[in-house]
Amino acid sequence: MDRDLAELPRCTRCDLAQTRERVVVGSGPPRAALMVIGEAPGRSEDEGGEPFIGRSGQLLVRLIEEEVGLSRADYFITNVVKCRPPANRTPRREEIESCHPWLVEQLALVQPRVVLALGNTAARAVFGFADGIGRTHGRVQQLGSARGLATYHPAAALRGGPRVVDVLREDLRRVRDLMERT
Ligand code: URA
Repeated sequence: MDRDLAELPRCTRCDLAQTRERVVVGSGPPRAALMVIGEAPGRSEDEGGEPFIGRSGQLLVRLIEEEVGLSRADYFITNVVKCRPPANRTPRREEIESCHPWLVEQLALVQPRVVLALGNTAARAVFGFADGIGRTHGRVQQLGSARGLATYHPAAALRGGPRVVDVLREDLRRVRDLMERT
């Protein structure tokens, strides 16, 4: 980890520092071809210190394994906001903005070839989309030297059922194509 990222576990750049249990930095190989970016830690992640270890994370990990052919140890996984918002509310604009430099540093360090953003918050923060995920999912974007796309958050798939899961699977097959071609 470079010097700045070493400070991340003690970050106090926004008010979430007062209510979080721990900073959920991210996990995976320091150099990974794929970087997966979610919204913010939930309760399980705040307690466990790793992203996507709760119910929606288990679904995500299974779908990536089935459609992209990668296990959790193969990709870097993190969130736009590294600390749990109280009661899992959507992160506020100022929280997203104060956390953004950490994400920029992680992208510079990991140098992924392909980036996958999960849900509206990540799609907006990573790719700058103004429209909702229903319109933007699956659209291939250039992000510096990487390419990527956004898809539904796995929590939306848990709520929305098989129809949303099917869309997520389809987008993940696009991720696999990008990995093969990028
Ligand atoms: N939802 C997210 O967006 N990120 C997590 O780490 C867990 C749930």
